[in-house]
Amino acid sequence: MRSQSIFKLIVLLGLLSGINAFSQIQIHVNTSKPVAPVQPTMWGIFFEDINLAADGGIYAELVKNRSFEFFQPLMGWKIMKPDTTTGVTILNRSETNPDNPRFARISVASGEPSFGLSNEGFRGMGIKKGVTYHFSVFAKQKADSKLRMRIELVNPPGEVIGSTSMVPQSESWKRCEVSFSATATEQKARLNIWFEGEGSLDLDMISLFPDDTWKNRPGGLRADLVQLLADLKPGFIRFPGGCVVEGRELETRYQWKKTIGNTEDRKLIVNRWNTEFKRRETPDYFQSFGLGFYEYFQLSEDLIAEPLPILSCGMACQYNTAELVPLDQLDPYIQDALDLVEFANGTSDSKWGKIRTQMGHPEPFNLKMIGVGNEQWGNQYIERYKIFAKAIAEKYPSIKIISSAGPAPNGTNFDYASSELKKLNAQIVDEHYYSKPEWFLENATRYDNYDRNSYKIFAGEYAAHGAKTGIPESHNHWKCALSEAAFMTGLERNAAVVQLCSYAPLFAHVDGWQWTPDLIWFDNLRSYGTVNYFVQKLFSNNKGTEVLPMLRANKPMTGQDGLYGSATYDQNSHEIILKLVNSKGEPQSVNVALDGTSKLSRNGTIITLQSDDLTTFNSIEHPTVLTPVENKLIIKGKTVDQVLAPYSFTVIKIKQY
Ligand code: AHR
Repeated sequence: MRSQSIFKLIVLLGLLSGINAFSQIQIHVNTSKPVAPVQPTMWGIFFEDINLAADGGIYAELVKNRSFEFFQPLMGWKIMKPDTTTGVTILNRSETNPDNPRFARISVASGEPSFGLSNEGFRGMGIKKGVTYHFSVFAKQKADSKLRMRIELVNPPGEVIGSTSMVPQSESWKRCEVSFSATATEQKARLNIWFEGEGSLDLDMISLFPDDTWKNRPGGLRADLVQLLADLKPGFIRFPGGCVVEGRELETRYQWKKTIGNTEDRKLIVNRWNTEFKRRETPDYFQSFGLGFYEYFQLSEDLIAEPLPILSCGMACQYNTAELVPLDQLDPYIQDALDLVEFANGTSDSKWGKIRTQMGHPEPFNLKMIGVGNEQWGNQYIERYKIFAKAIAEKYPSIKIISSAGPAPNGTNFDYASSELKKLNAQIVDEHYYSKPEWFLENATRYDNYDRNSYKIFAGEYAAHGAKTGIPESHNHWKCALSEAAFMTGLERNAAVVQLCSYAPLFAHVDGWQWTPDLIWFDNLRSYGTVNYFVQKLFSNNKGTEVLPMLRANKPMTGQDGLYGSATYDQNSHEIILKLVNSKGEPQSVNVALDGTSKLSRNGTIITLQSDDLTTFNSIEHPTVLTPVENKLIIKGKTVDQVLAPYSFTVIKIKQY
């Protein structure tokens, strides 16, 4: 705080005396010589179901283990007032219903006290006063059975904050729904279902959704979380991961065909993050696939982002079992990739296009890219990639194929992948970097010398990992975000090579995370953007359409005196956009000459993200400690004089006529 006040004083004195208080660093931006286009896909989103991102997160279902398919059928459920003759049994009809075999049979004998089931939700249920909730269940009950269901939402002390009732009356399976509104807001509510009367009732897919989902879609997504994504204006959405693509073993890989159609027919599987980290075991983490491939495509369309599915290439996670599909048995995997293109783009009379149409989307989703494998490495990957690439290119020559460079941005595996993929004329290669903030600062030059005539880069997963003391949310501190901003100026400067970038992971539930840092944190009711989120947002919202050279002493700004920078021009808004990062703890004065301009507006915009304290972070309790501050900037002539505050990321926009 003290240094900030001194800094302000120095700036003020400098302004009053009419001279700049610091020796100025001269920077030149040549506005008439764009060097490369910035792809519309440049800044995007990486979505993976980790940290309760899908079930318990963006997928707004409030009931956990709604179809009793977890390893323990009653995990997440509590029996209320059990009795010897009255109770619940779990039946398994796998012969007739292999994708959703289990259901619950409730039996209440005459004269028994009332009996109930209570669901705990995902670390509780977030309930909002005045919002309508839709309770639904698949049920069947014989005509002579008269069980009534009393449905209640209760707060932790057990007070009812919303209730309704229903009597399922069909003798065959039928979906029944009833709606009611909540009378109070509660972060950790439970759903109680009391069974009154006597008889026997079969239940499956017990579900509770709020009405206020994104676009009010029934059974849809949490609106606040989608809004945070929409605000990023992402150029693409990569889904469904990450390691969940691969599975710990092939059996639990992500299979998109099992995630479409009716939700009750989507076969639930374990989530690989369930027991991945001993220190953060999450035994109740499964994938219901309520958020499946249709919904991912729909989300991409809603956000005007290119869909970018990543598919299993017949290799289970190499950190886990590393199981491989023999090369001569890859056909079903390749067919999955080809069928996915048809599902997304095929006409309504094609096999998979018809299913998309039946799900409510006759128009194609315009899929343009597909990823083969997630974080694969070694010859085993290259062998499989070749077969996939050939088959996809033959059937769909316009689909761009993304290949993997493995989990690290350098080393033997990386070098091998890189040289093999070059020989194979790979189109786009997915590089991942999780490293210290210092690595990000030092690697702002990473792409300066990449071959402009070889493959393009998808910076598919990256995040600076700094000190991890304090609460988990504090791992998203300013030192990490600032170093990412510095690195991202290097990505932007090299947009000739780098065409897609996404921070990872995207989401984390404050009570259900496995991995830190993450871009967006949430609990059952609230959500916020981390300081890293605002860095991403500033780049993405101020992308521009072409790269302009920004030079200091004829060199790119890659950390000299701790300064980093990049510049773009936006052909749509006619703005010159400057991005400047001061990674040093003292102010630095810059003079940016906008060479080659005809006429500039006098009124520019300056947006600053700054903190003197590198440990600064936002949190669920204090979500706006550090957010961008926007001001007007008066432009005199064709230069920008600016004092860059210590530890700051600054975006300046000036309209050109
Ligand atoms: O983002 C978390 C994990 O990091 C991803 O699942 C994986 O691809 C990488 O190792």
